[in-house]
Amino acid sequence: MIERPRRLRSTAAVRRLVRETHLAPSQLVLPMFVAEGISEPRPITSMPGVVQHSREHARRAYAEAVELGLGGVMLFGVPEHKDAVGSGALDPEGILNLAIADARAEVGDDLLVMSDLCLDEFTDHGHCGVLDAQGRVDNDATVEIYGRMGVAQAQAGAHVVGPSGMMDGQVEVIRRELDAVGHQDVVILAYAAKYASAFYGPFREAVDSSLQGDRRTYQQDPGNRRESLRETLLDLEQGADIVMVKPAMSYLDIVADVRLAVDVPVAAYQVSGEYAMIEAAAANGWIDRDRAIDESLLSIRRAGADIVLTYWAAEVARRLTR
Ligand code: PBG
Repeated sequence: MIERPRRLRSTAAVRRLVRETHLAPSQLVLPMFVAEGISEPRPITSMPGVVQHSREHARRAYAEAVELGLGGVMLFGVPEHKDAVGSGALDPEGILNLAIADARAEVGDDLLVMSDLCLDEFTDHGHCGVLDAQGRVDNDATVEIYGRMGVAQAQAGAHVVGPSGMMDGQVEVIRRELDAVGHQDVVILAYAAKYASAFYGPFREAVDSSLQGDRRTYQQDPGNRRESLRETLLDLEQGADIVMVKPAMSYLDIVADVRLAVDVPVAAYQVSGEYAMIEAAAANGWIDRDRAIDESLLSIRRAGADIVLTYWAAEVARRLTR
């Protein structure tokens, strides 16, 4: 026998030598929820181990993220009061903008402070934009608000803004508005290929959202593959610096397609439902939790993601640096 592939699997040392894909803390980004009006962290039932942070409690997590060498934190705000137009998103005293400022004060330039740029955490109807007279999400009116939201986040200190609303033309308007006020260096991490997914379920609890209806008129249909290239190329034409695929595990074909199609960094978001599935199976003793987590992250990297957003970022980084 000439070919014996098992030869390169025979010891841990040789497996380590020939491993093609690696995880490093610098590639991991930790999504965090910062809630207004709480003083103690509040557990999120459907995401065991993840909490809504108070501003003060979050500061410790930012410092820890620096110590662990994470790539960044992606901040989500949970406001106490929501309204039809998501006013809290533009208010410099709004919870997300305050959290961004806290994070910058804590970490300076040692960690990338990223912020979700979308209205759904701030609207009482839970949609990612404002509604027109017929109750439909008004693309162009929403995009104008996103432009102002991007400026508010940059002024609060965000290094990276992450438009996640899937409105047409959003990247172009945000880039224009940022540049107009001198924020040429703020990076746009575009949620370029984002699907209307059931795997965002636990996120609704995480941001206290009671979505009326669904997001199928703006997020992509799970049956579509080519459409992701169209969305990604449009975002690049409009000035996206990094493109993201979301969710991750059920969309590894999309991650691989996008990786081949572009020469900018590619990110993938391992979303709340992906987290919850593994935690739930592990809690039942049905799978080996740590191995399943590492394997899931490795698969996302192997498919082509340079950067992974994951709720396990700190835990995995701790394990990697041990
Ligand atoms: C939109 C946004 C969502 C998530 C991240 N950004 C919700 C949605 O699009 O419905 C979901 C993340 C997750 O499920 O972990 N602001």
